[in-house]
Amino acid sequence: MQRVYITRMISLDALEEIKKACHVSVNSKDAPVKRHELIKNMKDKDGVLCMLTDRIDKEVLDAAPDLKVISTMSVGFEHIDVDEATKRGIYVCNTPDVLTEATADLAFSLLLATARHIPQADSFVRAGAWKEPWSPSLFLGMPVWGATIGIIGLGRIGKAVAKRAAGFNMKILYNNRRRLSREEEKALGVRYASLKNLLKRSDFVTIHTPLTKDTYHIIDENALRLMKPHAILINTSRGNTIDEEALIKALKEKWIAGTGLDVFSKEPIEKDHPILSLENVVALPHIGSATGKTREMMADMAAKNLLMALKSKKPFHLVNPEAERYKRAWL
Ligand code: GLV
Repeated sequence: MQRVYITRMISLDALEEIKKACHVSVNSKDAPVKRHELIKNMKDKDGVLCMLTDRIDKEVLDAAPDLKVISTMSVGFEHIDVDEATKRGIYVCNTPDVLTEATADLAFSLLLATARHIPQADSFVRAGAWKEPWSPSLFLGMPVWGATIGIIGLGRIGKAVAKRAAGFNMKILYNNRRRLSREEEKALGVRYASLKNLLKRSDFVTIHTPLTKDTYHIIDENALRLMKPHAILINTSRGNTIDEEALIKALKEKWIAGTGLDVFSKEPIEKDHPILSLENVVALPHIGSATGKTREMMADMAAKNLLMALKSKKPFHLVNPEAERYKRAWL
């Protein structure tokens, strides 16, 4: 039987599916696996089902000479050294699609929450600070209906956000590596803009690109300076798409009005991180795909990808099809 390591407890159904076909060891603690334990546990494994919190780099791969597949329960895979895996003929698989709608829901909730100061207003009520029945100037926010939204990265999640934005009668600009066909643009009601134009014209800017060397700090000081002073920046992709130092400066000096962040360059973010001391910030603990149903579907997809690869079949969501060329005769 092939041997599999699962770095975090997953749904029982997915776990059972893997157990039917493989010898499984699983990190049963409700915490990410420690690096030394990960390395120790990889030793004799044919497959690993990991989370985005596990850095699967050369050192880990060196510890796993039998490894055939890395199946991550996430859409993002920047925690995996894909080039190194490819050279070793190891499949890398992820879980797109199943989390698209949940993540778009969260991005849009964060946009609304930031625009209308929802968390701050909730804390105000709970703190007993609400003393007057109604006030014409209490928690004045930004209108969302009819505003212009700029979507950076119009992949699956970006498109799902565009559909929500259309329901709010928003003007939708997008920037993407590849421009969509005119038909697709028309169907979604989106207009292509250069990054510069998008930043200049949008009331809301929302990031939906994967983190790559091209998107690292795509929002830097120059980008922030282009945005409108009343604009709001939303990020549900990866923290390192934004230069956080520059963002703090932009918020303090009011180049932009606010930000809603579900992701940070270092997670968990420290309690005394300077960005958390600013009022115009809504911060969430990386919960884009966090619905019970979505997490079940992600576990199920990660299990299916893993099992297909171990049967030497092409997994549904293969990140590195080139690995095929380097694959040894495993079975
Ligand atoms: C979440 O951030 C994911 O990549 O699935």
